[in-house]
Amino acid sequence: MHKDVDTLFSCLWEKYVSITPSAHKIHALLAGEESSDQIVNDHVAFRTFNLEKTALDKLAAHFLALGYQAKGHYNFEAKKLTAQHFEHPDETKPKVFISELRVAELSDTAQGIILDLVAQMDANVVINDDFLYSDRHWRLSKDDYETLLSESEYAAWLAAWGFQANHFTVSVNYLEQVQSLEAVNALLKKAGFVLNTSGGEIKGGKEVFLAQSSTMADKAEVTMDDEKLVIPSCFYEFAQRYAMPDGRLYQGFVAASADKIFESTNAK
Ligand code: NI
Repeated sequence: MHKDVDTLFSCLWEKYVSITPSAHKIHALLAGEESSDQIVNDHVAFRTFNLEKTALDKLAAHFLALGYQAKGHYNFEAKKLTAQHFEHPDETKPKVFISELRVAELSDTAQGIILDLVAQMDANVVINDDFLYSDRHWRLSKDDYETLLSESEYAAWLAAWGFQANHFTVSVNYLEQVQSLEAVNALLKKAGFVLNTSGGEIKGGKEVFLAQSSTMADKAEVTMDDEKLVIPSCFYEFAQRYAMPDGRLYQGFVAASADKIFESTNAK
């Protein structure tokens, strides 16, 4: 039994803002600038491990069942990630961007930690769409978190937070009062939010048909070894799309820009 698209994203949003209060505040700030329209999400992103139980395809199945179609493939060599994006026939529904960590490319130590974590997970939990916002399914020690962090920030984030939206993304194209990504960024900085400056405040631009920016992740409490630790949680992204020569808005992603957006969960 699947939720409809809007109900699923509303469940994902509730979970996301519970550890990303900045996104809630920014959403209210942008909605307040707008006369009437709702904030449209450009895309929502997920992270996973490319293991049997947790593979990208397992997450994607929930979106395919809701009418989404598989689109572009992406490779992030240095970060050891493979990604794919999915689109709904209704362009006002968020695109979905799912990446997966190629676990076998990590050190034997990191692989061992990740295999032990995923071994604790019941393989059947992925069948329900609640899985997409189900947190983690394993106990995690602080030592293992730190070992993963020294090798792959992505692995450490996923080990700590498990399964949930990594970020939501505001579509700047659908904003009416704030007309450009530069103006969104200026508004956010004026309100005191910290932007990711890796690769510049704006990644991409008109020449690649997609410009993106993001906040640096909030920090939230997570339990390790029965101890509460405060670590980077999730961030909020902003995307402006441009028309291609055929007049249609570009709907894909730009790997070089996404590569820098991933760094929004780095500790500052
Ligand atoms: Ni994104």
